[in-house]
Amino acid sequence: MQTVRDNLALESALSAWAANGERIAFVPTMGALHEGHLALIVKARTLADRVVASIFVNPLQFNDPKDLERYPREEASDLTELERAGCDLVWLPGVADLYPDGFATTVSVAGISERWEGEHRPGHFDGVATVVTKLFNAVAPNIAVFGEKDFQQLAVVRRMATDLGLCENIVGVPTVRDSDGLALSSRNALLSPDERRQAVALPRALNDAREAIRAGEPVADVLRQAKQSLVDAGFFRIDYFALVDAATLKPLDQPAGEMRLIAAAVMGSTRLIDNVAV
Ligand code: PAJ
Repeated sequence: MQTVRDNLALESALSAWAANGERIAFVPTMGALHEGHLALIVKARTLADRVVASIFVNPLQFNDPKDLERYPREEASDLTELERAGCDLVWLPGVADLYPDGFATTVSVAGISERWEGEHRPGHFDGVATVVTKLFNAVAPNIAVFGEKDFQQLAVVRRMATDLGLCENIVGVPTVRDSDGLALSSRNALLSPDERRQAVALPRALNDAREAIRAGEPVADVLRQAKQSLVDAGFFRIDYFALVDAATLKPLDQPAGEMRLIAAAVMGSTRLIDNVAV
């Protein structure tokens, strides 16, 4: 596995593959990798000749400076794990490689970015769309692989890639979970042992709500009960718990078409998000 940092080294590695007509699958990450990220690499491996990953903790997408500061960083073990999962090249740009002095451009995806995470983390999706545009421009992948864990992010990236003609194929991978059901997340490392135990209430509430909706219970009642169960389990704040259309992310007050339950809630000082198909 090759490791490159600056844009020139990236370009020369990629141009050798392009000259051979090799197809590239790309997995952008912010590091502190776990089995969820590695599932994306394993999927990417099946989709193209070469797998490229990036590790970059993108300051533009952190609306809270404290969150950026305490974001876990584990470069050495990340590289070992990426190699084990079958990655060919890792790009580790520095802030100055992506954002030159005076950087003033924002990529903003209207509509789909605005609710849910967009509402509770102002500027977050502009930061994601801007960095993913820069990463796609540099890597020029044929395919890019994202997790369904960040369901709205996947929808935003799909819209942006189509609109800007940046990457022909965006592939979503189902959420990888711990044995008790909690979605793997780099942020789980920030939970205390007690908080970690209580956090399982989030996937439980999503699964219970899915079953209740499938059983025909009124959506408003189901959502109210789900939020109450999170409060009872020790969640400190619930940003949203909603039934949405899986394509548009518009809220549904009764079942229709392809649906997703999405939720965000705060345990201690750690904000967790999760979602399930209905
Ligand atoms: P990060 O949180 O590091 O996630 C990188 C990728 O891993 C995303 O596509 C995310 O959805 C996926 N992922 C995270 N946890 C997962 C899990 N438990 N199961 C499956 N996939 C999972 O998302 C970002 O970074 C950034 O916003 C980024 C796209 C890199 C732009 O900065």
